[in-house]
Amino acid sequence: MWEAFEQTHWVQTLSTTGWMYASVSVIHYLTMFWFIGSVAVVDLRVMGVAAKKRNLAELAAQVFPWAWTGMALAIVSGFLMFATDAGDWAPDPVFHFKLLMIALSIAATIVVQWGSPKWALANEVPGWAKLVALACLLLWIATIVSASEIPAMEGLG
Ligand code: HEM
Repeated sequence: MWEAFEQTHWVQTLSTTGWMYASVSVIHYLTMFWFIGSVAVVDLRVMGVAAKKRNLAELAAQVFPWAWTGMALAIVSGFLMFATDAGDWAPDPVFHFKLLMIALSIAATIVVQWGSPKWALANEVPGWAKLVALACLLLWIATIVSASEIPAMEGLG
């Protein structure tokens, strides 16, 4: 199935047109740092490390729409790169691990977004919320590391 998808006209055009593939891969990198950087600012604020003078609820409301936009672009550009070699990527266990890490990181990000307005009302952000924010930050870092290891471990890409 994925081999047939790889052979479709638009996927072939994307993989054989150098500037198109290069643009998609630049978008993947830029949007990855854009959204993970944005989420990290809120995580660090929840942990009480950065932006301490900013109201947490306001900061989260300001940052998250940008973060989700960047994440959507990273997912779309990632899918386009996946499409050009789908037959090899789809069965790859290290690639599955990357997708699992993305899912866990997104789940932690949603908890931080939902929690931020409530935590902002408390005198101090609860200790468990700081741990969730730390986990969120570490999960995104682990996602980048696992994604970067795919070419080295599997010879793909
Ligand atoms: C949203 C979170 C994501 C992050 C943080 C992320 C991270 C990365 C990183 C760090 C690389 C560079 C690997 C390297 O060459 O060193 C990469 C490449 C790639 N990503 Fe993602 N990615 C994300 C989403 C996705 C999704 C959803 C897909 C597919 C459905 C995907 C598919 C790919 C593919 C196919 C490559 C090309 C690997 C290569 O040719 O070397 N990514 N990603």
